[in-house]
Amino acid sequence: MNIIKGCIFDLDGVIVDTAKYHYLAWKRLSAELGFDFTEKDNERLKGVSRMVCMEILVEIGGLSLSEDEKHFLADKKNSWYVEYISGMGEEEILPGTREFITRIKAAGIKTALGSASKNAGIILANLRLLELFDAIIDGTCTTKAKPDPEVFLLGAKALNLPAHQCVVFEDSQAGLDAANNAGMLCVGVGSADILTGTDFIIRGFDSNLDDILNALIVQ
Ligand code: BG6
Ligand code: MG
Repeated sequence: MNIIKGCIFDLDGVIVDTAKYHYLAWKRLSAELGFDFTEKDNERLKGVSRMVCMEILVEIGGLSLSEDEKHFLADKKNSWYVEYISGMGEEEILPGTREFITRIKAAGIKTALGSASKNAGIILANLRLLELFDAIIDGTCTTKAKPDPEVFLLGAKALNLPAHQCVVFEDSQAGLDAANNAGMLCVGVGSADILTGTDFIIRGFDSNLDDILNALIVQ
């Protein structure tokens, strides 16, 4: 008998491709600071909190900044990012995602968001997805960045479920590590060449996921 009763979804890279907007904003900041920031560099920022991203940028640029300066620059980056995501609409939901979440809810599975982003609420509202989640845990609720399991443990708590009854959908290695650290099953969304330590791996929600649904949920 299957015991999965809750699904916890990361946001950026799982439900919507916001990495391109984060990239544009970090690139704009690094250009202002006088160095280049590549798409490869951007991979290091996936799944980690804004201030951890700032630390990575400082390292890439070889900068020496005070804590106040780092916070000032991270705020500046965020104001550009918020401007970029303000135009997002339902057409940017990754293919099949809304249908998948709707389907598992119909099967009696509870759903939560488990994101590092402090902008998750704005994004879900723009995508008109807020009503699909029984609980929303985002960067405004957490104090520790992935791979710390805090975000997913708070998600399970909000769903009133033990960790072992939850499965996490994640596109970043930091997020998959966080799910493992939380003692949860995890589904990597992306490529097996990049993601490790996952129980299952999918390319996205547009493919046939019956096998995974059967393994996880349907008895
Ligand atoms: C994660 C992204 O979901 O949220 C990271 O993958 C990002 O790249 C983090 O840094 C924090 O986002 P925000 O919106 O709070 O700056
Ligand atoms: Mg992500």
